[in-house]
Amino acid sequence: MVHTQDNHTWSGRFAEPVAELVKRYTASVDFDRKLALFDIQGSLAHAQMLAACAIISPEDLIQIQSGLAQIQTEITEGDFIWSLDLEDVHLNIEKRLTTLVGDAGKRLHTGRSRNDQVATDIRLYLRSAIDDLSQLIKALQLAFLKLAEQHTHTIMPGFTHLQVAQPISFAHHLMAYVEMLKRDMERLQDCRKRVNRLPLGAAALAGTSYPINRMMVADLLSFEAVCENSLDAVSDRDFAIEFTACAALIMTHLSRCSEELILWMSPMVGFIDIADRFCTGSSIMPQKKNPDVPELVRGKTGRVNGHLVALLTLMKGQPLAYNKDNQEDKEPLFDTVDTLTQTLRIYADMIAGITVKPDAMRKAALQGYATATDLADYLVKKGLPFRDAHEAVALAVRFAEQRACDLSDLSLAELKDFSDLIEDDIYQVLSLEGSLASRNHIGGTAPNQVQAAIARARHSIS
Ligand code: ARG
Repeated sequence: MVHTQDNHTWSGRFAEPVAELVKRYTASVDFDRKLALFDIQGSLAHAQMLAACAIISPEDLIQIQSGLAQIQTEITEGDFIWSLDLEDVHLNIEKRLTTLVGDAGKRLHTGRSRNDQVATDIRLYLRSAIDDLSQLIKALQLAFLKLAEQHTHTIMPGFTHLQVAQPISFAHHLMAYVEMLKRDMERLQDCRKRVNRLPLGAAALAGTSYPINRMMVADLLSFEAVCENSLDAVSDRDFAIEFTACAALIMTHLSRCSEELILWMSPMVGFIDIADRFCTGSSIMPQKKNPDVPELVRGKTGRVNGHLVALLTLMKGQPLAYNKDNQEDKEPLFDTVDTLTQTLRIYADMIAGITVKPDAMRKAALQGYATATDLADYLVKKGLPFRDAHEAVALAVRFAEQRACDLSDLSLAELKDFSDLIEDDIYQVLSLEGSLASRNHIGGTAPNQVQAAIARARHSIS
């Protein structure tokens, strides 16, 4: 609950209180409360440094520590009273601390500004979010791997232009997503390095005249390094933009997968079934089972992509250093983290619950002349230039189409009409299994190659 108290003025500098509407417009406590525990963590480190540098007394430090401990309990137990008059999470906590411990609380903000304080809080929040998200990405990769392991011999059509192209294994298709997630993970880990730097010490924008020890605060908060320019430290939000770009790519990958799941589950395709717990029915059509979860993942991807554009736009016109615009970074960032967290969580469970229908996949792979390239490659290996082989096979496909049959249904004599290089070993080449087995190199769809890819992925994940 956020309370409004008597409308106070900021300081003796102001002749009248802030207008009620303005107060509501400028306050962020409704959403930046999410940073409360990180704010306390940052304040504890700052206070410990102030005491170590003899800027505050050891007694003050003890008071601050006990006050902040009580505030932390009040917040986690839901007893803390948030006030809109106190604008944001930082002022709410500081005011409560002063109420609890008096002058020691008033000394906490020595050598610090809300500008470096908020930048520190967001970095602590985001670092923790990245660590949680990394675990969720791993869990999703493992769900894909587990399904892939069972389907290295399950043959389906691979598509280009959504037209049947060449046969592949279902495992090979799934492993494409494991690769995407691997890059997503690399990006997140790289982004984490730039998140993991300490702004505190920059104060409002120019640094502070107190004899502070920034490295000590960095160590206490497990930051890798300090931000090396005070203006940049308080105004940089690159790290949040970069994170949101990583998140937008993860969502985009999951959106592509969702599109496929929806297609595959359509009765017109019927390659898979998604467990009932991820679907809903229709209020009017009793037969319907709708893939709501993948549809929503596709929809929520738009939302995260929108947050990326919002953050980029937020920064583009800002002069150095801190501007209040930056307060608008929080809602897009928090919503990105929440949306991605929920999506990854639900996705791993959904992938684990997929029912595969190998017969439907095989039937589809047998349509559309998926092994036509194999016939052309066969002719090339017997000495025909590739373009001539391409044309001979095109004519053979046309002939088979008129007969409404597959290439492998044509007799050897019929096939020989298109090239007398064709012998009866062609039937193995035209089989789906032969086609898969022949793509036997790293990155190919041959079952032994896909098994090796799965083993490599398992090794790199654990
Ligand atoms: N609530 C503010 C934000 O989120 C905190 C920093 C405010 N600093 C200031 N000088 N007004 O950015």
